[in-house]
Amino acid sequence: MPNEQAVTRPVSQFEALRVPTHIGVIMDGNGRWAKQRGRPRTEGHRQGILALKRLVRLCNKYGVPYVTVFSFSSENWTRPKTEIEFIFNLLHKFVEADLNELHQNNVRVRVLGERNGLDVALQRTIAKVEATTARNSGLKLNVAFNYGGKNEIVEATRSIAADVKAGRLDLSQVSEELIEQRLYTAGMPAPDLLIRTGGEQRISNFLIWQNAYAELVFLDTWWPDFDEEDFVEALQIFSERERRFGGLSEASA
Ligand code: IPE
Ligand code: IPE
Ligand code: MG
Repeated sequence: MPNEQAVTRPVSQFEALRVPTHIGVIMDGNGRWAKQRGRPRTEGHRQGILALKRLVRLCNKYGVPYVTVFSFSSENWTRPKTEIEFIFNLLHKFVEADLNELHQNNVRVRVLGERNGLDVALQRTIAKVEATTARNSGLKLNVAFNYGGKNEIVEATRSIAADVKAGRLDLSQVSEELIEQRLYTAGMPAPDLLIRTGGEQRISNFLIWQNAYAELVFLDTWWPDFDEEDFVEALQIFSERERRFGGLSEASA
């Protein structure tokens, strides 16, 4: 006899989770994690890379199609030079050292952000990792690096204006879809869940266009401590939210 309960009630918490299509992650709190332990901020960034690797594995495990992580903002240039260099070296090493593993796991890696002005060796590594994984059909991992949301919109505007000026585009063709095609995330679905660790409740110039309708989840966990429990907590909060997109809720419709 079929077990009625099994039909009407999710068998496990895991099955009750609604899995987002695209998760954006503001990986914040590395410095405070380190400070709390009396260690240099750089140690927090080093541990943050391990948390990033955990996140990639979790997205694979739970079947999340897209994840975009904020790893260095265009505003982070105001930090001390030594910290900036340390972060750059760490991220460079991460993409280089983990390329094989990411590739074997069928992960497609893309780097979103301004590349001009970056170290030439780093630019080469970025090009290599993107080319190597370009045909992978698994998790799409976007690393927002030297990224700023306002600047992304400025660049899109410039490219559209140039096309209009040259007569390749008519003003009437400028639309939301066209702007989206000129963003770094062209062709990807917008994030439906944005997670920020570290306790701050702000966007900090991250995917400001794309996050227009994302569900925002703020966790107090410092990024280096981020683990499966936090990930599942964020998915649970997301699963309980009702996304209305300006319409009416099911209850009041
Ligand atoms: C996030 O951690 C990493 C980067 C911004 C590169 P922070 O370095 O901002 O850590 P807190 O916010 O100072 O704790
Ligand atoms: C946002 O964190 C940028 C990244 C996580 C890379 P910040 O620490 O730079 O943000 P604010 O300064 O607290 O807004
Ligand atoms: Mg911070």
